[in-house]
Amino acid sequence: KEYIGEAEAFSTENKEELEAFRIKFLGKKGVLNDFFAEFKNVPNEQKKEFGQVINALKTAAEDKVKSIVEALENKEETKGVFGDLTRAAEPVLIGSRHPISIVKNQIIDIFANIGFNVSEGPEIEDDWHNFTALNLPEYHPARDMQDTFFIQTNPDVLLRTHTSSVQVRYMENHKPPIRTISPGRVFRNEAISSRSHCIFHQVEGLYIDKDVSFADLKQTLLYFTKEMFGKSKIRLRPSYFPFTEPSAEIDIYWGLKTETDYRITKGTGWLEIGGCGMVDPNVLKNCDINPDEYNGFAFGMGVERIAMLLYQIGDIRMFYENDVRFLEQFKSSI
Ligand code: PHE
Repeated sequence: KEYIGEAEAFSTENKEELEAFRIKFLGKKGVLNDFFAEFKNVPNEQKKEFGQVINALKTAAEDKVKSIVEALENKEETKGVFGDLTRAAEPVLIGSRHPISIVKNQIIDIFANIGFNVSEGPEIEDDWHNFTALNLPEYHPARDMQDTFFIQTNPDVLLRTHTSSVQVRYMENHKPPIRTISPGRVFRNEAISSRSHCIFHQVEGLYIDKDVSFADLKQTLLYFTKEMFGKSKIRLRPSYFPFTEPSAEIDIYWGLKTETDYRITKGTGWLEIGGCGMVDPNVLKNCDINPDEYNGFAFGMGVERIAMLLYQIGDIRMFYENDVRFLEQFKSSI
């Protein structure tokens, strides 16, 4: 009877302990077999009770073994399906946004705050949208400013050399007032170096309304550089673009705090980030906008240049190599 109590009280989560229990009670030399062997020596009048007790002990031991085996199996199954539920969670591996996307999105946000929308267009362009409508007629020497990748000649099909082509498309389809920026990838047949690449990204802006002045353009650029870089020391250097008059290059003063600053500003602290100007009346005419009624400004900026300054990237080629050691450094910026 004591053995029954012991069998019923037994509990374990350990297979070895369970096996020891089984051997002790149900094994060949176990308690039960001893009792069965003893049976013939029990006086007849006690045989009935003795038999009942050892049967009860047998059932108790067998039930116990069965229930513990089931419990252990259940545990293993659960482990198989869900893993160990008490284990610490594994970190989820996520990718990172490309620095060009990060900067492009920032530029879009900054201009969205002053009412610019986003327009997009094709990377493969025709001559009209990339050149002719932008006041660059055939044989115009300024076409040489942008070394073009031609896909087909006569009629010309090419990889767009700037996203000004998107602005032409936008003007063809929208009436002023127009406030739009066109981010996108552009292509130029240039020698690849640490400072320039044959593929890069631009964000071009276009503002067309009544009585727009050069002061509006400058103020817009000052607002942008303040938001983007936290400082707004810029310089507008007189320049020439066929589609704007007057035209200027936009330089930002970044300073010379690091070796990378020296590299990308060629030791001057100044970096050209794009071009700008008042939209040439011929361009408006080409897009069916009356230049006597409307005027405006346009600007275009290189995204890589800005990203290089902000993230201190000394070589433009890093953007296109997709080396994970480079890309992973932008994880926190998602
Ligand atoms: N489209 C010019 C370029 O790619 C930049 C620019 C845009 C200049 C708008 C003036 C006005 O170089």
